[in-house]
Amino acid sequence: MKLALLATGGTIAGVGTAARYTAARLGVESLLEAVPQLTGLCAWQAEQVFALDSRDMTPAHWVRLARRCQALLDDTGIDGIVITHGTDTLEETAYALSLLLATDKPVVLTAAMRPATDPQADGPANLLQAAHEALTGLPGVRVAVHGSVIPGARLTKLHTQAPGAFAEDETPLPAIRIPLPSGEALPRVDLIHVFSGMERGVVDHAIAAGARGLVIAAAGDGSLPAALLPALRSARDAGITVVRGSRVPHDGVRRDRNADDTAEGWIPAGTLAPLKARAALLLSLAAGLGPFETFAALTGDTL
Ligand code: SIN
Repeated sequence: MKLALLATGGTIAGVGTAARYTAARLGVESLLEAVPQLTGLCAWQAEQVFALDSRDMTPAHWVRLARRCQALLDDTGIDGIVITHGTDTLEETAYALSLLLATDKPVVLTAAMRPATDPQADGPANLLQAAHEALTGLPGVRVAVHGSVIPGARLTKLHTQAPGAFAEDETPLPAIRIPLPSGEALPRVDLIHVFSGMERGVVDHAIAAGARGLVIAAAGDGSLPAALLPALRSARDAGITVVRGSRVPHDGVRRDRNADDTAEGWIPAGTLAPLKARAALLLSLAAGLGPFETFAALTGDTL
């Protein structure tokens, strides 16, 4: 068996103390060397794809990583992929890969909450767990961390400090694959979080900045402040896709419940958390897919 190990940075490659460290300092070879059992499990093809603190990941990085993964998955000499990543935006990258990759091989992401030089570093155990998970041969994108295995589409980070920082959310497993964008230019899609006393300016700014899509993390059951409605209608009239989600983590937003999505031309996010709805909308627009059809397939929403 041969696995590819793709390193992208993160605390798992961090140097310093748990209280103060710099992410993404160690290279992929150091990660492998820190876990001697790995070389006894299988052969490895190790690559440093990025060296980033994951707060600096962009959709362009998702696409570059997905392209590299797809090339490796299409290689008959590679049986699966392990990816090391920062925890902070792991849920976005894991969802993007879940939408973009077509494969019957395992793609297992892992991460750490403590830097590699911390006496209680969690990275080595997580990396070993990810390797074992990849060697099961089970297809698809998963995250192996702190003893749990979570579908890549369903990952959510719940704690700022705890090693067991992750949980599984209510995201439907993607029923479609979004084709990998062929070009480098990606559309701008902004995520706007509703708050009390909000004014329309934040939406107007997104329109002026060239956004092609907006995801609104609205209040409660996708409830939109009256102050935002004229701006959202201007966005729609300008051809910008508006997705109505919720800042509340459970139960989701359904079509025409609590707002007239059909009449207004908005798309309800279903149980997609705002970050995931934003990734889906961005990648759908990048691939030239109709966002209504994409969301229908991803959320079960029907017009
Ligand atoms: C990062 O996300 O790259 C830094 C934080 C972490 O990995 O926990």
